[in-house]
Amino acid sequence: MNFPKDLISITDLNREQINEVLNLAKELKVDRYNDQKPLKGKTLGLFTTKPSLRTRLSFETGIFELGGNSLFIRNDEIGLGSRESFADIGRVLSRYLSAFIVRSHDHLGLIELAKFASIPIINALTDQEHPCQILADLLTLKENFGELKKLKLTYIGDGNNVCASLMLASAILGLEFMAITPASYEPSKNIVNQACHLAKLYESSAPIITNEPSEATKADVLYTDTWLSMGQESSKEKIVKDFQNYQINSKLLNSQKIPVLHCLPAHKGEEISEETFEENSKLIFEQAENRLHAQKALLVKLIGYTNS
Ligand code: CP
Ligand code: NVA
Repeated sequence: MNFPKDLISITDLNREQINEVLNLAKELKVDRYNDQKPLKGKTLGLFTTKPSLRTRLSFETGIFELGGNSLFIRNDEIGLGSRESFADIGRVLSRYLSAFIVRSHDHLGLIELAKFASIPIINALTDQEHPCQILADLLTLKENFGELKKLKLTYIGDGNNVCASLMLASAILGLEFMAITPASYEPSKNIVNQACHLAKLYESSAPIITNEPSEATKADVLYTDTWLSMGQESSKEKIVKDFQNYQINSKLLNSQKIPVLHCLPAHKGEEISEETFEENSKLIFEQAENRLHAQKALLVKLIGYTNS
């Protein structure tokens, strides 16, 4: 099936397209070093204004394994939106590259860039969403739980970018999603409304948002992320106080063994205890590996589109 040009929000993909990416990712994982090089001769740009371990390495490795070349571009070189407008940079990039993978605070800037670029623009994390992470998470859930429909996925922590993309993807694929956050750290109303709308469209359950940590024990699988996203570090003291009842640990889980996912980097002793992290480390590092396989599949699908 045809794919959209860009992946800015996980909602740029419909249920069928997400499943296509996940199925191809499974194939590429089994046959990682095959001779097919769909990106042969192509150069992709990777740009970030924030730190990254997994995103940069998994994209660069994946592009190489698909036969392409990746260029890492720093913001002090191109000044996205400051030295030059998103619109002009988008039009220039399209003359050289086959795709541009961007990590930036500015979600609307990415939308603007995508509007003016003729090549795929891929969101590698904005303050609003992290769709590439969520493709890897869905792959991990499929591998470990099989059927995703009706799986009770509960996110606990800050209602941030990762929470937003997970909630939206759950509505598209039919997972039963709950977000447990402290008061005033709930996901944005816009995203919740969008998820409710998608849930209706796909006949899924609407997301549940609560401030009650004990609800975590009802989940099939839990998910957490840092309480402080990149750029929010200065509010550390306040955040740690507000979140003290929201750590995933054996007390919160009543000693139940519920599997836990974490997008990483983890702050052990904050959103998750060291013990619970280590008990789930096999799953969590599988999830990190799956960034590679899911993104390779995504690149094949999106860049295949520009060739057709
Ligand atoms: N999970 C994730 O995106 O990790 P990085 O910030 O290290 O890329
Ligand atoms: N919510 C985190 C995710 C890091 C992968 C952040 O934005 O920093």
